[in-house]
Amino acid sequence: MNIAIVTGASSGLGKEYVYAINERYSSLDEIWVVARREDRLNELKATLGEKIRVVAADLTNEQDLLKISELLKETSADVRLLVNNAGFGKIGDFKDLPLGENTGMIRLNCEALTAVTSTVLPFMKKVGKIINISSIASFAPNTRLAVYSSTKAFVMSLSRAMRVELKPYGINVLAVCPGPMDTEFLPVANIAKGTSRTFDTLPRVKPEKVAIGSLKASDKNRAVYTNHILYKVYRILGKLLPHSIVMKICGA
Ligand SMILES: NC(=O)c1ccc[n+]([C@@H]2O[C@H](COP(=O)([O-])OP(=O)(O)OC[C@H]3O[C@@H](n4cnc5c(N)ncnc54)[C@H](OP(=O)(O)O)[C@@H]3O)[C@@H](O)[C@H]2O)c1
Repeated sequence: MNIAIVTGASSGLGKEYVYAINERYSSLDEIWVVARREDRLNELKATLGEKIRVVAADLTNEQDLLKISELLKETSADVRLLVNNAGFGKIGDFKDLPLGENTGMIRLNCEALTAVTSTVLPFMKKVGKIINISSIASFAPNTRLAVYSSTKAFVMSLSRAMRVELKPYGINVLAVCPGPMDTEFLPVANIAKGTSRTFDTLPRVKPEKVAIGSLKASDKNRAVYTNHILYKVYRILGKLLPHSIVMKICGA
């Protein structure tokens, strides 16, 4: 059974990936949609039909990860595409954020992403694609998003190294670096109008464009995808300029 798996599919970018994958890859037998809010996933199934398999899971919970592993075995799944999208951020100085929020970002954005990838990889039997959601926050350290931007730098670094390791096995790993998107990410991060100079002024990117554009980039075996000219330039500046300078312009 050929499948795609999308984590964080209950809202925002993840949901757009499910729509785009359903549209683009008609030969898939199932699309597994993973998140904690089962009602939202069921709504997706009601809209898109039987191809959608609802997998309600908290990816920071070991038992739930085991459940996914068991399901992969039971169904003899051949995973053609894994989108590691689940993630969250919290805005604020490191010292002001509660311990649980600082470590929670690492647990979901880094540890769970790594655990899901390790769980799924043995089930990528022939060719396969992995899409890891990083962020423009990975291009340089961000003040007031210190832990979040560090987790996204982890995702970028992991993706680039894994891409080289997995190339001989016909598996491409793409790191996706979106700019700000109007999703539930912003309220979850406590980012509202007037709370962040940067977020107030930065142009928004559309999640559906990110999903479709990055699937095309993945099909072309690209390493990194970012859309919008401003963020492409920022990526280059992040490589060329000392981070001490970039951070002065780009703190959240
Ligand atoms: N929006 C932006 O400005 C922006 C910019 C750059 C990168 N990103 C990245 O894009 C990705 C998607 O974010 P988004 O903007 O679409 O935000 P979102 O609408 O808040 O979506 C986050 C998704 O992650 C899921 N999730 C959260 N905790 C989870 C857990 N413990 N286990 C399983 N699933 C969990 C949520 O579902 P449940 O609550 O139902 O579990 C939800 O489906 C994230 O990795 C984010 O860091 C966002």
